[in-house]
Amino acid sequence: MLTIVHYPDPVLRLVAEEIDNIDAELTTLISDMFDTMYAANGLGLAAPQIAISKRLIVVDISEEVGGIGPIALINPKIIWKSKNKETCEEGCLSFPEVSAKVSRPATIKVQAIDVESNIIEFEAEGLFARCIQHEIDHLDGILFPDKVTLAGKFSIKSSLKVLEEEYKANH
Ligand code: CO
Repeated sequence: MLTIVHYPDPVLRLVAEEIDNIDAELTTLISDMFDTMYAANGLGLAAPQIAISKRLIVVDISEEVGGIGPIALINPKIIWKSKNKETCEEGCLSFPEVSAKVSRPATIKVQAIDVESNIIEFEAEGLFARCIQHEIDHLDGILFPDKVTLAGKFSIKSSLKVLEEEYKANH
């Protein structure tokens, strides 16, 4: 099991590095990330959340409506997004107990490399699209509170303060 880092750990703000080698070490990392995500009851996890600043995400919404996964994406990119947006409550394993509404494009097209080194391209919508966008944001140091509405920002302010105090106390 890997340790999930919490906000405001600085690793969460780094722009993660591209992966150019899909080897046994990476396969093990992916499998450890899935285990860690399942243990934490998450739907997605990005490598920076386990303090590894690499462009790798895992998502599994197979238990949810329209379920898809498990899927691991290496160097994922959004190559198209719909103008149409959806607003939904979102949380993050790096922000325990925090959730707020985030507006995101409803449909996206994604390009990535899979674990067999194939370049894959697919369209995602609904919760699947939301999870992928949330996780890809992590690879660019973007965190979901950056994207919440003004009202949402106000409502999570004190929860963020608590996390900041906890981080200070532990580092
Ligand atoms: Co997250």
